[in-house]
Amino acid sequence: MDFFTFLFIISVLIVVLLLILIFFSDGDLTLMFLEKIGTRLSSARGKVYWVVGASSGIGKELAFQLAAHGAKLVISARRETELKAVKAGCLAIGKNAGLVESDVLILPFDVTKVDSHKHYFDLVIRHFGTLDVLINNSGRSQKAEFQNIKLKVDKELFKTNVFGLVNLTRVVLPHFLAKSKGHIVVTSSCAGKFGAPLSSSYNATKHALHGYFETARSELAPKGISITMICPGMVHSDILTACATENPGEQLGGKIGADEKRMKTERCAKLCAVAIVNKLDEVWISLNPVLFFLYVSQYAPTIARAFLSRYGVQAAIKTRGRREAGALGAR
Ligand SMILES: NC(=O)c1ccc[n+]([C@@H]2O[C@H](COP(=O)([O-])OP(=O)(O)OC[C@H]3O[C@@H](n4cnc5c(N)ncnc54)[C@H](OP(=O)(O)O)[C@@H]3O)[C@@H](O)[C@H]2O)c1
Repeated sequence: MDFFTFLFIISVLIVVLLLILIFFSDGDLTLMFLEKIGTRLSSARGKVYWVVGASSGIGKELAFQLAAHGAKLVISARRETELKAVKAGCLAIGKNAGLVESDVLILPFDVTKVDSHKHYFDLVIRHFGTLDVLINNSGRSQKAEFQNIKLKVDKELFKTNVFGLVNLTRVVLPHFLAKSKGHIVVTSSCAGKFGAPLSSSYNATKHALHGYFETARSELAPKGISITMICPGMVHSDILTACATENPGEQLGGKIGADEKRMKTERCAKLCAVAIVNKLDEVWISLNPVLFFLYVSQYAPTIARAFLSRYGVQAAIKTRGRREAGALGAR
């Protein structure tokens, strides 16, 4: 066997091995590797994390994960009653890690009310004296066909999913810059990486987050600021309840069935926490086949686009059903 044949066989074997690893993973390979041998979650102990969008779903479970390892927490969202329950959960879970009542601060607010951001950030600093990590997790999904969406819906979604988070980050940044240290986490989505059908406004907001925060990283990394973009696939949460449609103000009111094939919220939150303590730039967290599709869309975008154009809408309808896929008029 000549050298080039040997090299070819080794390359093929490596690709096959990587494909097998991806097939059995629920996160990108760097994340899977660091889950095993990276910085431990215990490094969160004593640091102050502000989880925005902590009243349900991924943000709530992430607060629990961090509390279990003794992190101090600010938990925010609009629903105060839910936040109180999350705080009680954090204190119970974090008891063995030494968490006490004053280590979890509830700050209910609406992220779209940007004029109030400075006030709430001041309350964080008044309470804890510092902030280490801002987790921009709040967000609202959407199910609708592109041609039916009213422009007002696009604006509503950008207000919640993008401008609210970008403004809050800008309010927090002077604090991080003053100490030449800080970490900004953003919950994007797999939908921020390719054009998944039947939620174009939502996908656009998630793509926009990458535009803002990838640029911010290149400006802020030399100043000691880390940015982590988290891209989950389909996860169990309340995301379909307040989900937007094509009409302004309308909510889908959907519910994710307990038996639906989605990643468990706890598992997603655990992997988010691993990504955060390891300060990864971008992570993909998803079951297959979406995880595999993310790799295809990253490394063979033409194939991914051809697949979405041919099968995307049918796949979405098959996964979610016609109404909850937002495809009432689609064939
Ligand atoms: N579940 C999935 O399949 C999935 C997949 C990819 C990405 N994501 C992203 O993950 C993040 C968390 O979503 P989730 O799945 O955990 O859904 P969720 O259970 O509906 O959680 C959304 C969170 O955002 C908060 N929120 C929404 N609008 C807000 C506003 N105007 N001001 C303040 N907080 C607001 C909600 O709290 P209040 O209602 O109390 O305000 C809630 O805490 C979102 O950014 C979502 O886009 C989810």
